[in-house]
Amino acid sequence: MYQNIKVTPNKNNVGAIIEANLSNFNQEIIEEIKDALAEYGVVFFRNQQLDSQTYIDFAKAFGNLAEYPMLKGLDGFPEITVVEKKPDEQIMFGEGWHTDSTYTNEPPRFTMLYSIKTPEKGKGNTLFASQYRSYETLDNEMKDKLKNLKAVFSADGPISKTRKNRVDEKGTGIDPKSLSAIHPIIKENERNKKKSLYLSPGHAIKICDLDEQESKNLMQQLIDHQTKDEFIYGFEWEPNCLALWSNYAVLHNPVNDFNAHRVMHRITIQ
Ligand SMILES: [Fe+2]
Repeated sequence: MYQNIKVTPNKNNVGAIIEANLSNFNQEIIEEIKDALAEYGVVFFRNQQLDSQTYIDFAKAFGNLAEYPMLKGLDGFPEITVVEKKPDEQIMFGEGWHTDSTYTNEPPRFTMLYSIKTPEKGKGNTLFASQYRSYETLDNEMKDKLKNLKAVFSADGPISKTRKNRVDEKGTGIDPKSLSAIHPIIKENERNKKKSLYLSPGHAIKICDLDEQESKNLMQQLIDHQTKDEFIYGFEWEPNCLALWSNYAVLHNPVNDFNAHRVMHRITIQ
């Protein structure tokens, strides 16, 4: 199936490691990466040497680049957001289960993280939870119930407090309360038609058309299900790794278990 890249699925079939040289990509390589991404929800590449322009060129092969509403980008490269934790900081940006920017009307389909500086290996991992697996393992009654449901996602949801340090430093001044959107909670992958559960615990505040208690109970039930151990894989970072994920197919959660400087360059793609 793959002629130009080597693809090794991870534990629980959550994500896959790909061997390829991203500074020298071509259309055949991109198509195969897209196939692997549609199949596994997230893919990882180690030992890459990407300058910011090459990184942007690679990202553009997957769609139009988005600018992150809450923070200013890297000097000269506004599409690159610096995601960092400094050694003296307690809070980590984006900590907790979520999927990116669901409070916008057109949330980014994909996110890339390229590691610049990382803590010792095994610390500061990013956990990914497959929402393909999460959807597949719901019973038919629940699948039926969720089919037409939508949820409200807010930038002021539970994860908003983790942005504080970076917003103080490089914030755009946008009030998170002003950003919210409504989306269906089931997604279908356009490439292979696999369905996934799309409910970001960091942003979802209610399920539409249910009374308050019912919405609260269903959200809690789904969130408990989405993050079960058997749907999770944790990626161990080192410098020069790239992770590329579908925000429709996985949740992610960076583990805040270190006091060191961690710097990632992030690009989101519409
Ligand atoms: Fe994130």
